[in-house]
Amino acid sequence: MAVILRPEIAALVPYRQGRPAAPDAFKLSSNENPFETHPAVLEAIAGASINRYPDGAAVALRERLAERIGVSIDEVHVGAGSVAILQQLISAAAGAGDEVLYAWRSFEAYPGLVTVAGATSVTVPVLADGRHDLDAMAAAITDRTRAVLVCTPNNPTSTIVTTAEFEEFMARVPETVLVLLDEAYREFVTDPHAVEGLSLLDRYPNLVVLRTFSKAFGLAGLRVGYAAGPAYILDAARSAAIPLSVTEPAQRAALAALDHEGELRDRVDAIVERRTRVRDGLQSAGWDVPEPQGNFVWLAAGDDTPAPPRSWSATGSSRGSSRPTASGCRSARRHLSIRSYGRPRRLSQCSEKGPEHRG
Ligand SMILES: Cc1ncc(COP(=O)(O)O)c(C=O)c1O
Repeated sequence: MAVILRPEIAALVPYRQGRPAAPDAFKLSSNENPFETHPAVLEAIAGASINRYPDGAAVALRERLAERIGVSIDEVHVGAGSVAILQQLISAAAGAGDEVLYAWRSFEAYPGLVTVAGATSVTVPVLADGRHDLDAMAAAITDRTRAVLVCTPNNPTSTIVTTAEFEEFMARVPETVLVLLDEAYREFVTDPHAVEGLSLLDRYPNLVVLRTFSKAFGLAGLRVGYAAGPAYILDAARSAAIPLSVTEPAQRAALAALDHEGELRDRVDAIVERRTRVRDGLQSAGWDVPEPQGNFVWLAAGDDTPAPPRSWSATGSSRGSSRPTASGCRSARRHLSIRSYGRPRRLSQCSEKGPEHRG
């Protein structure tokens, strides 16, 4: 006889990473930072004591972040990646019978996190241009809604929510509903109208902003992210967290990355510059590309979604699919995204192929 598992968990498809890239290609599916680790980060990690447990409260890192953001240390929480904090907050706010609302498509981890919490996902399709339909999301809030996830720039469409849109949305969200503003890619944003959650914390008592060291700061492999928001909400996240899960190397690396933020921001600028070139190349090849604001670009390939990866595989640009497509991209049923910017020449070969070369 088999052990009885929760049926919704047994039915859940585990989070699948993109396949590793071939040695002469590189993986596009996780929006990682293509630059080598900064030497100061390597040095900081080398100094960590591995035989000891880390500081479970991550005090030094939280102090540093609190100072930067202009909040108290209790209004900052650090987790083993921002996805861990998402899990803690969703579980803290929503359980059986409760609803968690988010746009779709958005970050692939959201549905699983909601299911594991025992809550129900309510999804609102993104608009044709990949942006959140905040009007429809506000209308979808019920008395069972416990949390709303807003992802900006949205993974995978790379589109932003503007400050004005967010303010209008928040005016329609009851203060009893937790709003999680997922800004994992905020450092790549160049649109001056984009919302910037950290500057709005004073205004909204139900807002928590999530950021990560994985993308702009290049620490994806160490797993460290943070959240800022009301202390009592973050206390609930701390209670829901696995103790001691943010390692000392991760905490030290994050501090070292902050020490060298200027240089890391230069790398962000280089990625943004390449993003612009890729976008321009794709647009001039006839692709309809929404204005990308993350470190990835979204192509609405529609019913032809499987075709571009086939034609692009010849360029060797990447192998990184969480679904069985050919090399080059990760595809959703009706869309396809190109991510990362390590080898722009390869990517421009992709863009030159254009929509007319599908298949
Ligand atoms: C929108 C979004 N949020 C959160 C995360 C999680 O990042 P991490 O757990 O590495 O901080 C990702 C990672 O891809 C993401 O795309």
